[in-house]
Amino acid sequence: MKQARIVGTGSYLPQRVLTNHDLSKMVETSDEWIVSRTGMKERRLAREDEYASSMGTEAARLALKDAGKSSEEIDFILVATLTPDYIFPSTACLIQQELGAKKAAALDLQAACSGYLYALSMAKALIESGISRNVLVIAAEKLSSITDYQDRSTCILFGDGAAAAVVSAEGSGLAIKTVHLGADGEQAELLMLPAGGCRKPASQESLEQRMHYIKMSGNEVFKHAVRRMQEAAKECLEASGVSEEELAWVIPHQANIRILDAIAKRFSHLPANRLYKTLEKYGNTSASSIGIALDEWRKEGLGKTGEKVLLTAFGGGFTWGAALLHYE
Ligand code: ACO
Repeated sequence: MKQARIVGTGSYLPQRVLTNHDLSKMVETSDEWIVSRTGMKERRLAREDEYASSMGTEAARLALKDAGKSSEEIDFILVATLTPDYIFPSTACLIQQELGAKKAAALDLQAACSGYLYALSMAKALIESGISRNVLVIAAEKLSSITDYQDRSTCILFGDGAAAAVVSAEGSGLAIKTVHLGADGEQAELLMLPAGGCRKPASQESLEQRMHYIKMSGNEVFKHAVRRMQEAAKECLEASGVSEEELAWVIPHQANIRILDAIAKRFSHLPANRLYKTLEKYGNTSASSIGIALDEWRKEGLGKTGEKVLLTAFGGGFTWGAALLHYE
């Protein structure tokens, strides 16, 4: 059987930095509160003329270069985003055009912060079924465009950025052994963007009520995130026949340091520095966060041949997932 592998990665972070100190001038908060409750110190903000498509294109170019492939070799582009340039056409089509990936089909998918893992799972299926040979997985978020900078309980969390991976039937890299996904729409309203869709199109009222911004019941989401990420990790390992002790690295969605600490407790054999973190410098970049972390982890040369790596995520919907990768 064919084995799907990540053979190249890339990421893009906008240059502008938004510090906790900057936020403390915008809402009633402090560096001390943000660091102790979230672990975050800075996040990046896209320029007005930077979009999910342009950030995603930059990340994709770097991933293609890393994989030694041309855009013409790509036959499918999957873009995970909850901040697409438009409702339609898809951001994937805009990126396809920018890259000149003329032979590629293009599709957006939306699984909030679990989007990277959902896209990875689709890429694995496309490769291993023989439908595609080279799939570009992209996650790109301009969360600043839907963040309410008057709401101190959410604006401290989110940042912008993009990540990409070339998933291929040939070449060496990170073999995608198992991806385990889940969803539960029952509590969809705990984390949502209420207006702008067909239920509540933009209106004077939706603007006045600030309904085009993320609304989140942080406390509730927190509890679900911990439980679901831990369960997804366990179920993914069970499905793979791999024990927790065999893992060399865990790269989780960068939601909150306290969520990551709770996950670390589950993997108590792992040295603290083997739970890879970027949230201090980039905050929560939703679908992009695992992809950015995976790219930086690879570029730092931290992974060694033969090691097993677990990715795990949770996001709005709710959606969640975990993926087991083997460094080959
Ligand atoms: N600065 C100062 N005080 C604040 C701030 C702030 N930035 N934000 C909230 N507070 C206050 C609240 O108003 C509240 O005050 P009160 O007691 O007087 O009412 C108090 O702090 C405690 O509020 P909580 O909401 O209980 O604070 P909590 O410790 O839960 O932290 C946080 C809030 C950081 C949002 C946390 O709940 C969280 O991280 N939740 C999970 C978010 C998440 O994981 N999302 C992942 C999926 S979502 C996605 O990725 C798109």
